[in-house]
Amino acid sequence: MTTLIDQINAACADAFAACGFDTKFAAVRESDRPDMADFQCNGALPIGKMQKQNPMDVADKIVAAMADNPIVTVEAARPGFLNFRVRDSALAHHIATIAADPRSLAVTAATASKILVDYGGPNVAKDMHVGHLRAAIIGQALKDILRFAGHDADGDVHLGDWGLQMGQLIAFIEAEHPHLLDGGEITMEDLQAWYPQASGLSKTDDAFREKARAATMALQAGQADYFALWERMRAASVASLKRDYDWLGVQFEYWYGESRYQSALDTMVADLQSTGVAELDDGAMIIRTSDDGKLPPLILRNSNGAYGYGATDVATIQDRIQDPALQTILYVVDARQSTHFKQVFKSCERAGYLGTVSAEHIAFGTVNGTDGKPFKTREGGTMRLTDLIAMMVDAVRARLDDAGSIPETDRAAVAQTVAQAAIKFGELSHDREKNYVFDIDQFAQFEGKTGPYLQYTCVRIQTLLDAAAQDGKTPGTITSVGDGGRALALALDAFPAAIDKSIKARKPSHLANHAYRIAEAANGFYQKNRVLSAGVSAEDAASHLATLAAAQRQLTLALDLMGISVPTKM
Ligand code: ARG
Repeated sequence: MTTLIDQINAACADAFAACGFDTKFAAVRESDRPDMADFQCNGALPIGKMQKQNPMDVADKIVAAMADNPIVTVEAARPGFLNFRVRDSALAHHIATIAADPRSLAVTAATASKILVDYGGPNVAKDMHVGHLRAAIIGQALKDILRFAGHDADGDVHLGDWGLQMGQLIAFIEAEHPHLLDGGEITMEDLQAWYPQASGLSKTDDAFREKARAATMALQAGQADYFALWERMRAASVASLKRDYDWLGVQFEYWYGESRYQSALDTMVADLQSTGVAELDDGAMIIRTSDDGKLPPLILRNSNGAYGYGATDVATIQDRIQDPALQTILYVVDARQSTHFKQVFKSCERAGYLGTVSAEHIAFGTVNGTDGKPFKTREGGTMRLTDLIAMMVDAVRARLDDAGSIPETDRAAVAQTVAQAAIKFGELSHDREKNYVFDIDQFAQFEGKTGPYLQYTCVRIQTLLDAAAQDGKTPGTITSVGDGGRALALALDAFPAAIDKSIKARKPSHLANHAYRIAEAANGFYQKNRVLSAGVSAEDAASHLATLAAAQRQLTLALDLMGISVPTKM
């Protein structure tokens, strides 16, 4: 069971070889002109040029060599293109082949890689915001697609659970709620209320700032009451983060944080200094990352003796590579941290930590509001993820109320599922390297390039399948391609390529765009081919139903890989 494009590629290569042409020119791709061809190969052009022959003559030879091909008819077109049209019978048969395979013809990797995806990065005591959405949704989709392709991929949340913000909170609690140093519950609501005050004081009050710095140092030195307080703050945050991540369907295998690596820093930095990788520079400990100074050195420890973000990430790599099977680490983190990751990777290379492990920064752009500026609340503050989710649920709920197509008692639950789709597909349908506009109203639409539209396509097909079954009509042999079935079949054939591209480019947007293509083609087919109307033959009804069921099956699979589930009604 292989895709049509692979079969045609193989047949075309055979024809090139039979004619004595270099098969490296035999590559076939989807046609730019679907009105003229399904697939095309442009290899006759360079061959004609090299052999000083008319490319049309080269193309004609290949056409002759492929004349009896059971899958495609081939034509030469000026000035030397090869145009392939899949035979109707082969196309109909192929839809059934795809439908019969739960993987829609996507193969698993010949050799599985062990991959760690670092795609969390929220900071303890601070709320998650819209920026954390990107890491979470892209990272989870990448991990799931990698797993689907047979790789061994795990995720680490890499919490920001260390550093100055913890010292600020400790200093604030010590001043305002000293009894909490002896124990007592701390909630996320407390932290949400205190953190802005603590960080505000750090900016305006010199004495407070000094206390916060001292508290950070004491915490790092392991002072028992501070450490116990820190543990309670971390626990409260983790519980709240898990609620948001759960709602998004995001799961991490490891709930490690920056704190995990702190005890290793003294030894690591001493080792790096003794091997000459790290050096003192004006009281700071640094690693030089370029000879020409184009990339600034990584600062491991500043002149006050405090370790920073860079040291933690180097130590994290040192820890991660303890797993001898690990091959790749993917950091799904904001593009604004690209210098940081270049420095960290270069430092680890110099330290000999990476060996054959490859580390990649999977950078993403900013989430903007409809005004084109970074997404903010109406008041101009940072939009909390929880509030954003609530707004999306409200927007979807309003649509469900308008449509009135499902009983009121089901709407709350369906609104959750549809809002998840709206947010996730809104993210995944955009190229991660670009900024995108988070448009609640547009993402919540049931038409257009949205998550709800894809869900609705599946629901609509299911409704038809159910109604047909009532009528005694069930999916059967696909006897004809039907009107619009060619575009649908070719789209379904491209699923393995979409998976492949998503993995190679580390961009789940390839799969998201593919899913939209399927939905468009399936809806086109749905509209053009009657199933329930009087006068439709049993054979045609069975064929059309099977075609739609094939589309629904693949679309559901693609959605599943993006963490989107389909409600029974919407
Ligand atoms: N906590 C960091 C921040 O808020 C993100 C961490 C990303 N992961 C990493 N290994 N550095 O900027």
